[in-house]
Amino acid sequence: MPQFDSTSTAESIAKALANDIQGKTVIVTGVTKTGYGAEVARVLALVGARVVLAGRSLDKIKETEEYIKKETPTAELYELTIDLASQKSVRAAAAQVLKYPHPVDVVILNAGIMGAPYSKTEDGLESQFAINHIGNFLFTNLIMPKLLESSAPRVVSVASMGNTWGPVNFEDIGFDDGKKYNKWAAYGQSKSANVLFAVELAERYKHKNLIAFSMNPGGAVTGLHRYMTAEDFAAFSDAFNPDGTPKGNWARTIGESSATHISAAFDPSLAEFNGSYLMDSKVNTDPQFIAPHATDKNNAKKLWALSEELVGQKFDV
Ligand SMILES: NC(=O)c1ccc[n+]([C@@H]2O[C@H](COP(=O)([O-])OP(=O)(O)OC[C@H]3O[C@@H](n4cnc5c(N)ncnc54)[C@H](OP(=O)(O)O)[C@@H]3O)[C@@H](O)[C@H]2O)c1
Repeated sequence: MPQFDSTSTAESIAKALANDIQGKTVIVTGVTKTGYGAEVARVLALVGARVVLAGRSLDKIKETEEYIKKETPTAELYELTIDLASQKSVRAAAAQVLKYPHPVDVVILNAGIMGAPYSKTEDGLESQFAINHIGNFLFTNLIMPKLLESSAPRVVSVASMGNTWGPVNFEDIGFDDGKKYNKWAAYGQSKSANVLFAVELAERYKHKNLIAFSMNPGGAVTGLHRYMTAEDFAAFSDAFNPDGTPKGNWARTIGESSATHISAAFDPSLAEFNGSYLMDSKVNTDPQFIAPHATDKNNAKKLWALSEELVGQKFDV
């Protein structure tokens, strides 16, 4: 079985796993051309997957589509507009997916925001939690019938070492309606939720052959950093120079930082680790990168129940 590491790229892994990927249908969320999602979509299309390009802006989806088609003119690409900040939009997108004439083999929940100033979505939820977790929770559950049509369905929940910056605060999910808002604790909460979601999905659906992973892609400068200020760069001095250019582990290429997306989605040798948190294409349990609050099974169940409440719908297996 192939083994990948921190030097692997999305493209090198996709080529090594081409037999597993060819002909599969993969939904990738957050496919803006400069970020990880577009690279993931590009390499999947390159080795013959049918790729659903999901994003909140149709213009950005089309830009990525054009970019992929330039390299792979035969690529089979679908467009899917979805704004994860809006439960109405998520429901409309899921309804479209349910009409596809084929199973969905993998969904890669890659879209997200980081460190945004306080705001609430149209559904009244704090934005980082709503976009990074609640939208994913609702979308994945609504399209579950399509995933379960696949013989080997996988869900990849793109998290971050940001999970160590704060737990899911079940007592006050909205930071006292913004009065106690801390943008990094809010990102931490949402990324902890990404890990917990995979833990609970794996538990609930293992008897249906579904595999779920959370993962830390690693750093690279992308649109994700749009809200970072000079003060933020100074505060994260281990990761950034004062001018905002990355250093150390954060100075990776987009290809390197999109690699674990591909192994999480397709590496057969990872299948036995259902529910795990991956980094550099391997299971990672180092407390520097993964906090106990983010893998706790009771927290995973509590988050599932809270999420059902917040979307107003129960999802029984
Ligand atoms: N870059 C890093 O250093 C790093 C490190 C650890 C983890 N990650 C994780 O990696 C994932 C991808 O991030 P990235 O670095 O590639 O950042 P990015 O380039 O900003 O990509 C994020 C994507 O999410 C989309 N998005 C944002 N809000 C959305 C919404 N409401 N509905 C639908 N889509 C939305 C963005 O669309 P727009 O372009 O329209 O905003 C963009 O396509 C994120 O989950 C992030 O937390 C990144």
